[in-house]
Parts: sequence; C-alpha cells; structure tokens
Amino acid sequence: ISENQINQAGHLTIGGVDTVELAKKYGTPLVVYDVEQIRHQIRAFKKVFEEENVKYVVSYASKAFACIAMYQVAAAEGAYTDVVSDGELYTALKVNFPVKKISFHGNNKSKSELEMAVKNHIGKIIIDNFHEIKLLDQVLRKHDAKIDVMLRITPGISAHTHEYDQTGQVDSKFGFDLESGQADLALEQVLANSRMNMIGIHAHIGSQIFELNGFEMAAKKLMEVAENWRSQYGYTAQVINVGGGFGIKYTAEDNPLRPEEFVRAIVKTIKKEAKNAAFPLPEIDIEPGRSIVGPAGYNLYTTGSRKIVPGHCPYVTVDGGMGDNIRPALYDAKYETVLATDPRADLTEHVRIAGKYCESGDILADDQALPATKSGSLLAMLDTGAYGYSMASNYNRNARPAVVFAENGKAQLVIKRESLEDLVHLDQPYNNED
Ligand code: LLP
Repeated sequence: ISENQINQAGHLTIGGVDTVELAKKYGTPLVVYDVEQIRHQIRAFKKVFEEENVKYVVSYASKAFACIAMYQVAAAEGAYTDVVSDGELYTALKVNFPVKKISFHGNNKSKSELEMAVKNHIGKIIIDNFHEIKLLDQVLRKHDAKIDVMLRITPGISAHTHEYDQTGQVDSKFGFDLESGQADLALEQVLANSRMNMIGIHAHIGSQIFELNGFEMAAKKLMEVAENWRSQYGYTAQVINVGGGFGIKYTAEDNPLRPEEFVRAIVKTIKKEAKNAAFPLPEIDIEPGRSIVGPAGYNLYTTGSRKIVPGHCPYVTVDGGMGDNIRPALYDAKYETVLATDPRADLTEHVRIAGKYCESGDILADDQALPATKSGSLLAMLDTGAYGYSMASNYNRNARPAVVFAENGKAQLVIKRESLEDLVHLDQPYNNED
C-alpha cells in the first residue's frame, strides 16, 4: 500500500474511502476494489501497444472477477473481454458489453453455450479441440451463421508456476497439440469450413508467471506456427493471441516485472519474428485477468477468537476464510495483510490468520507479522482481487461476502452480500410420502 492510502485518522483507504467506514457500512468480510487501479492497469497495457505502434486487443479475462459492474468498467475502458461459460457470457450481455469484443474460451464448451455465443454474434470463438469443431459446425449450420474463430494450440512450454496454474505444457488439457500434427489437422478442418472464419492462433501458457522467457518462447512458437501454416497451407494468420498470465507481486518475496513490461517484450519478440520471416505483422492480442484486478482488490475481515499454541504462532481467526478466498488452501498462495486501522503500526507479533471454516487447512496466512490485535480488529488482506471472489463458495453454508467498488472517495455496492435466505433459495423440500 502507498503512503497516500493512509488518511488523517491513520486508517487504510481504498479508492479514497476509509476502510473503517466501509466495514461499518457494508460489514465484513468485504471485498473492496480500487476502481482507478483497474482502469490504470488496462490503460498501461494499451499504452505499450500504442507506443509500439501495433494493432492490438487488450481482452480482460473475466474469470478473474466477473460481475455486472466489472464488465461495465472493462467496457468503459475500451477493453475486450473473454468469457469461459454461459454465466460469464450472460453477465457480459446484461450490460450490453459490445458483442464483437467478446471471445469465448474453454476446453468443453457445451452446445448450448456455443449456441448462445453464435446467436448473440459474439466476436470470436477460441476453438480448443476437435469435438468443438464438430459442435460449432452443427450450431452454425442450424443458425445459418458464420463466426470468427481462432485455434488454441499447446505450445509445449511449462511455466514455473503452481501445477494447477500451468496450461501450456505438452500434456495440458487445453488446446491442440503441435508435435502430433493435431493442430495442422484442426487448421485443415477449419479452413475447409466456410462458416468458420479463421483469424488466428492462440496460446496461453499459465498464470502468475514471472519468467519473461516463457512468454517470449510462446510468442516465438506462435509465430513459428503462423509461418509454417503460411508456407504449408498458404494461410496467413491475422491475429496472434498470447493469452494472459502476467505475474503480480503478492508478497515482499515476489519481484515480477510490471505486467505491461511482459507485454512490451512479447510485442518486440513478435515484431522481430515477423520481420525475420517477412510475415505481415499480425494484430497482437492479450488476455490478462489477474494483473488487471488482482492488485486492485482487498479483503476486509474482522478478527474474532485467538488461540495460543505454546511454541507456535498464535492463531488469529477472522470472519471469512476459504469460502471467500480459496487460494491459500488450494495453491498455497501467499498474501500480505495489514491492520486497517493502523497499517504503519509496529509489527509486534507473528500470527497465523485462520478462517472460520470447519477445516484445518482454512488458513489464510501462515506467518503474518502484525501489530497487536484484539477481538474486533479490522484486517485488510491485499491483492485479493483476482480469483478470490470469483472462486468463492458457500462451503459450510456461509454466505458469500459483499463486493464494493471505491473510486474518488466514493463507494458503491456492486454485489450484495448473500443473505441466509439466499442460501436456501434453490433448495426444495424432499417429499417421499407417495
Ligand atoms: N487466457 C486464458 C486462456 C486463461 O486460461 C487464463 C487463465 C487467462 C487468459 C488469464 O490469466 P491471468 O492473466 O489471470 O493469469 N484460479 C487460478 C488461476 C487460473 C487461471 C486460469 N486461466 C489462481 O487463482 O491462481
């Protein structure tokens, strides 16, 4: 957090709004986004492309955090968006997200999802597998429609990130394999299909990646494939999509490049490869999710019980946990947490921040240095904006938190807190009398 996020009362502010006021007004656990930070990152990505003078698309990977307000902000910033389910598509359509700026991803899109995409004339489908080529063909015939498509390839690059976050290695479940000739066959099928307009090639190597090298290799690989396809099939890709995955700084140990600097290196690589192969410089598309919303998000919690364990860090328990942020339990993800009422106070103890869920693994932070806290202290966990709320669950029948957008000193509720009634809303009584 920066110095200017601390107000005269000494409290942490987000988007110019005092976190203590936020907690009072909306309750905790609470997810708060600094909207200016979201806008800032989208602009920073666009600026790189403008400076490099290339055609581009910045597409927000909405799986990182999707809701009506978020699609509104992305659209207002001129970003495109990619969706991976009918639910995300439905939400984007609700806010009249420009349909041509929506692309659809996923390794098992259902027929009804493809139908929804086709009927709504979305921008493009990123085809993942042969089954999908068939399904999409059926849907396009049925609706007598055409659509722009890209082929997702598996570039064979394993990025150094958590195993679950790797997607580009050879045995990934995503995309067409290159070595076995699957990708070539997919291209043949798509080119032969007059309803599919093949616009380019896609690869995504994983998420929370720090190594520039992985992105450069992927960019090279994509250009190599484009070049092969030009010489083999006379097909010239107009778009190269390098996916997302730019790593962000969660803790002091992390030291990534700024997200836009990954992009600059990718653009330079593609430019160089295109020049060497005398290949017409393609449009370059990126799909960042985490880097756009991660650093903009905060989870506010109120502390409750404390357990002293002789010889170990004490447990400080908060009113949320794995239901609003599964990442520590699932990926061993690390976060920084501060005392919202006094983020600069001396750090006097190391604690384990435990959630309230009935599971020993529900620990949000293993070893967090904090000032003295008591029951009722307000904690702010930083950089929780990506894959936090979006992966939230109702485990233990806890209600999911509210989400607030803060900007220019004003806060607005964008997702209501679930009520207890919401939790039983879909339940139906079981009647076995007859
Ligand atoms: N494009 C594609 C095709 C993707 O699969 C993903 C993420 C992205 C873009 C955006 O990647 P990002 O810029 O956000 O890293 N739940 C995990 C992350 C899963 C990422 C899945 N795909 C986590 O919490 O770390």
